[in-house]
Amino acid sequence: MNRVLKFTCVFAVIFAVETLLFAPFASAAPTITDPASAETPTSTSFMLFKGNHAEGLNGITHHTFRIPAIVKTNAGTLLAFTEGCAKSNKDYGNINVMYKRGSNNGQTAGGWSTLMQAASIGDDTISNPTPVVDCQMGTIWLFMSWNSANTSQSGGANPETGLPTTCITQWGQRRVYVMKSDDDGMTFKGMDGSSKPTDMTATLTPKTRAGGSAWAWDAVGPGAGLYTSDGVIIIPAQFRNIYSKDHSIMWQVQKLPESTGEATIAELNDGSLYRNDRANSTNWAAAKRRWISRGSISGGFSAYTSDDKLLDPENEASILFYNNAETDAPTQTIFLNSASTVTRMKVRFRVSYDNAKTWPMSRPLSDFTLSSGSGTEGGYSSMVKTADKNIGAMVETNLDISNNDVSVRGILWHKLNLGWVLHGCAC
Ligand SMILES: *[C@@H]1O[C@H](CO)[C@@H](O)[C@H](O)[C@H]1NC(C)=O
Ligand SMILES: *[C@@H]1O[C@H](CO)[C@@H](O)[C@H](O)[C@H]1NC(C)=O
Repeated sequence: MNRVLKFTCVFAVIFAVETLLFAPFASAAPTITDPASAETPTSTSFMLFKGNHAEGLNGITHHTFRIPAIVKTNAGTLLAFTEGCAKSNKDYGNINVMYKRGSNNGQTAGGWSTLMQAASIGDDTISNPTPVVDCQMGTIWLFMSWNSANTSQSGGANPETGLPTTCITQWGQRRVYVMKSDDDGMTFKGMDGSSKPTDMTATLTPKTRAGGSAWAWDAVGPGAGLYTSDGVIIIPAQFRNIYSKDHSIMWQVQKLPESTGEATIAELNDGSLYRNDRANSTNWAAAKRRWISRGSISGGFSAYTSDDKLLDPENEASILFYNNAETDAPTQTIFLNSASTVTRMKVRFRVSYDNAKTWPMSRPLSDFTLSSGSGTEGGYSSMVKTADKNIGAMVETNLDISNNDVSVRGILWHKLNLGWVLHGCAC
């Protein structure tokens, strides 16, 4: 039924056997000389955030967990963030930013903490977790987007009260909030040390867009931010990068072309920066691909263009600069999204060796064997490099199978070595 998948499996077996017999192996994939090709593929996966009211905290059991974001602290602890939606799978209503701390490099379900809460503002929506670790200071920054319980992006009834919400049309109805942790993610606090997130909208959200209209809707990330090799903290956000060059004494905004929405950012091995974003609806209609801009904080960014290889169903994606500094391997950039223009369910890892210009190897997540109760996987994702040099990935799953209004969402965890991806296909 699925020729591509069968081919992939057969290919993977041949590849594995040949690797064993003739290692180091390079001949089947002539353009790649990645030592990770010779690794025995390893992978594990399990539900990380269950949804369907199986987990809860502070009097709420969550209907849905969506919008993953993961970072590794300086101590090697994994911090996996998600929106915890109290009563629905909608992106408005009572949403809090929840997280779990992972020890043991995320290897086993038992190595993860129970549910913890980073941010909650009454019954409002506090969403789009976008964490980043300042590797010099050890501080974990957590940027988020907020709107009040009576507003939403496009209207609809508040899931808790049933009352209508008003569409966001004015600056300030959607706001940027920040928290930080100085104790390896045990607690998150506002800038003033209180338990309340700090409102940074006045500094970090411009009032008008390029054409003069109000900067009304807004989004940070979602997904991991970036700490660059020269010590700049960067939060990718709608139409801009939010950054600090001095470990948070001053936060600034770099405006970008207003072509995309949900954003990712990575540093490439020449020190340049790479935005790989979800196109806005006009641009997506023109090219159903990921939209790319390259540049730097000091030199500005290029106009966005579509990457023809990176199919996209108008969805979030994640990017991970896997190797730069280590000299025992080539530079490696990993990309994860649904490689389709029509469905969010064809999630696939891709690897690039040339600063995200070409993507010669890939492997679909459908090659994982999921335990029962894992639902139908696909949607938003976030990746991290674990301290034991594996790829960790959070991916949304639809637990009710049918993609309807009330279906429960959760988040799956995958841990795999790069060899697992390289035993996929040259496609
Ligand atoms: C939403 O509720 C707040 C009070 O919580 C109120 O100040 C605000 O005007 C309301 N906004 C809309 C758009 O109804
Ligand atoms: C999308 O971005 C382009 C610029 O790249 C702009 O011309 C267009 O109006 C935008 N569309 C929407 C729906 O914002």
